[in-house]
Amino acid sequence: MTAVGIDAMELWVGNLKLDLPGTFAPAQDEDPGKYTKGLGLHASSFPDSYEDIVTMGANAAHRLMERKGLEPEDVGRIDVATESAFDNSKPVSTYVAGCLEQVYEDDFHHANKGERKFACIAGTQSVNDAFNWIASGRNRGRGAIVIATDTALYARDDPGEATQGAGAVALWITENPSVVEFSHAQGIGSADETDFLKPNQQFPSVDGKRSMQVYLARTREALEDYKEASGGDVHPHDFAYVPFHTPFPGMVRKAAVLGYRNLVRGTEIEAELAEEIGAQPEEDEFEDTEAYREALSEYTDDLAETDRYQTWYDERIEPTLDVSREVGNWYTGSVHVARASALLDAYETDRDLSGSKLLVASYGSGAQAEIHDETVLDGWREEIDSMNVGEQLESRYDISFEEYETIHDSHNHDLDTDIEALTTPDSEFVFDGWGRMGERQYRYVE
Ligand code: CAA
Repeated sequence: MTAVGIDAMELWVGNLKLDLPGTFAPAQDEDPGKYTKGLGLHASSFPDSYEDIVTMGANAAHRLMERKGLEPEDVGRIDVATESAFDNSKPVSTYVAGCLEQVYEDDFHHANKGERKFACIAGTQSVNDAFNWIASGRNRGRGAIVIATDTALYARDDPGEATQGAGAVALWITENPSVVEFSHAQGIGSADETDFLKPNQQFPSVDGKRSMQVYLARTREALEDYKEASGGDVHPHDFAYVPFHTPFPGMVRKAAVLGYRNLVRGTEIEAELAEEIGAQPEEDEFEDTEAYREALSEYTDDLAETDRYQTWYDERIEPTLDVSREVGNWYTGSVHVARASALLDAYETDRDLSGSKLLVASYGSGAQAEIHDETVLDGWREEIDSMNVGEQLESRYDISFEEYETIHDSHNHDLDTDIEALTTPDSEFVFDGWGRMGERQYRYVE
């Protein structure tokens, strides 16, 4: 069977930074602890007035192509996942290809282009499309550029405003990859849910608390399905890291303990934990569902306090959140940021990761979760060494609250604003005004 996976990855961080505990919390008259301790966020990455989903996606893809020495003829697909699209017909991938054609001599006329929509899980679905295309043998030796790009903005004063972010991830998916190889085992948890949606509107309608419950329910369902697909023999220590979709780190804190509770079932850890905090409650031991749920919730709180769980969490989950804490939610890119963050941690702590497995848990509202595993390959270290995420985070312009208000307005499709950029673009694609048919136009700034 052809090995398929990620051969290279790039993150493109919005050029502005909103300090959440330092700038946003005081302006909202909130305790900074809500951000640092509760949500687990320090900053949001924000797009300057000349940035949008196309510029960030094209910039990430351009950097990836330059670094890997790729030419347009090497690329058989450009797939874009986004929930911030501004065109209901022409896909963002065509805008991205148009940008890239400004800087390459050749074109992408033989690359299949598309756009995926299913909230945040669309990024992983695009990766799966690329996987299937290559595994089917239709790729003729070429690879796929998968871009997950979003300006994850909420309406002003919506509770979701605390979790905003903007950025793009570009992944180069190939046969015989060098960073990770995808497994064939895949679990899905999917149901028609009304928790987070954008019915022909730019900013989401969100039932925040319900969205968190739906995230947990669908993820649990996907984990059960993944265990079945893997032959049932899954142990929490099988995985070096477990990157989750990260709308904010506090959400992952809740999901991780449920995942652990599920994964230890039937392992030696379950019996050892039973001696420490009692056995996991079983539904048939209770008179009604409410009593069972209460017992389960108490058990889960006790489990989260055990040293055994804390160690598992600190080693396998916490490092996946490092980048997210500094950038906020990138919707479709968020789980791919978590993977990159895990690999960055292994690089910085000089860990030998080759041959280790990652358990990757994606999620999209509306709602669907997907879980699969990946094996880390020998080229991962070289790839991470070539990325410049730390530099990008450092070079962001730190905005004041007043600047935040203006920039938020400049990205509001319902407002007609023309504001000065806060930063100067450097070797990147920028938004360059409107064309005669209402299309957005772009140019490369040297
Ligand atoms: N010190 C320490 N902790 C504090 C604190 C303080 N001073 N103040 C508040 N907190 C804690 C709260 O206790 C809470 O933690 P718990 O959930 O563990 O109790 C946390 O900080 C957040 O505080 P609130 O619940 O008061 O925050 P909120 O009501 O303003 O909204 C939210 C939180 C519902 C997540 C909101 O930000 C939101 O709607 N976000 C968008 C929706 C979202 O991200 N949902 C996630 C699942 S859906 C998904 O994943 C798809 C996607 O990407 C959108």
